[in-house]
Amino acid sequence: MSNSKVSRRKFIATGLTFAAGAALAGCGVNGAASPATAEPAKGQPVAAAVSGADQPLPWPYEVIDPEVVRKRAYENYFEGGCCYAAGKAIVDSINEKVGGPWGNIPTDMFKYGKGGALGWGTLCGALNGSLLAINLVTGKDVDLIGNELIGWYTMFPFPSTKMDSYAKITNQITTISNSPLCHVSVSLWASAANAKINGDEKANRCAKVSGDTAAEAIMYLNNWKEGKFTPAYTPGSEFASCLTCHNGAKSMLDNEQGKMSCLQCHDEKSQGHP
Ligand code: HEC
Ligand code: HEC
Repeated sequence: MSNSKVSRRKFIATGLTFAAGAALAGCGVNGAASPATAEPAKGQPVAAAVSGADQPLPWPYEVIDPEVVRKRAYENYFEGGCCYAAGKAIVDSINEKVGGPWGNIPTDMFKYGKGGALGWGTLCGALNGSLLAINLVTGKDVDLIGNELIGWYTMFPFPSTKMDSYAKITNQITTISNSPLCHVSVSLWASAANAKINGDEKANRCAKVSGDTAAEAIMYLNNWKEGKFTPAYTPGSEFASCLTCHNGAKSMLDNEQGKMSCLQCHDEKSQGHP
């Protein structure tokens, strides 16, 4: 028993590239115990996986129709939740047009992001899935484009009516979350709409949030690709001053992580502030 553990560890430490091949091939540990001589099993997509891993960012991109992505994301939602909805819609649409490394992404991996990561209500999955694709497309510009998408999300009255020609439920109540958190976004909306979190109305709303967010991401990527992306988001005046003292290496205190509106959780006056 302990033998197999040791050889497995050794194998992982010395044969990372082959580990991927072995995992794909479903090989036992023993067969791959000697990485120097290990051969990927015949017919396994090892070479493809490695070329995906080796593809430096930014990945190739072409302008995509945001309405195609919006509809796909709306529909995907019902198969795997918000992160899968947005992430798969974007990846599939780029893959269709560009191919290359985009064909190597197992889109089922996006399923963990539903409900703000497995129902924990943290980062909205529609953002999470879109951000992964933005990162691959833009490389270092992910800070610029991703920040804009998150900022936009916090101020957008979700859901739009742009999916109403094919949506199962139309003309839904809209709310602005002032937050990228699934918890805030969904709970606030459910309260305003008098809807249950596990009901059909909420599913439709979040399917549309996925569509709206993925489409917005694609519009940014299109603009970025054409060299005409300009960020528009700025933090609201009610908390911009908090950031200048608390957030960032150049701020007075640099003692807080996050760009979300502070006042959703903190009351300035109750803190006895300078
Ligand atoms: C002029 C600079 C400045 C601004 C603007 C500012 N803060 Fe502060 N904040 C401070 C200082 C200084 C402290 C005290 C730090 C300490 O005692 O360690 C503090 C403390 C805090 C604390 C910790 C309070 C505690 O119980 O110790 C919170 C939370 C906080 N600020 C939130 C905010 C929020 C929210 C805003 C915007 C509405 C804001 N701050 C704006 C300077 C600022
Ligand atoms: C989603 C809710 C949320 C948001 C948004 C938020 N905070 Fe907090 N923050 C918290 C919680 C919860 C704690 C931990 C408080 C505790 O346990 O005392 C905390 C802790 C802090 C502390 C340390 C408090 C201390 O006792 O010294 C500071 C400073 C702070 N936040 C500042 C900010 C600022 C500035 C912003 C806006 C840029 C902000 N927070 C946004 C929830 C939030």
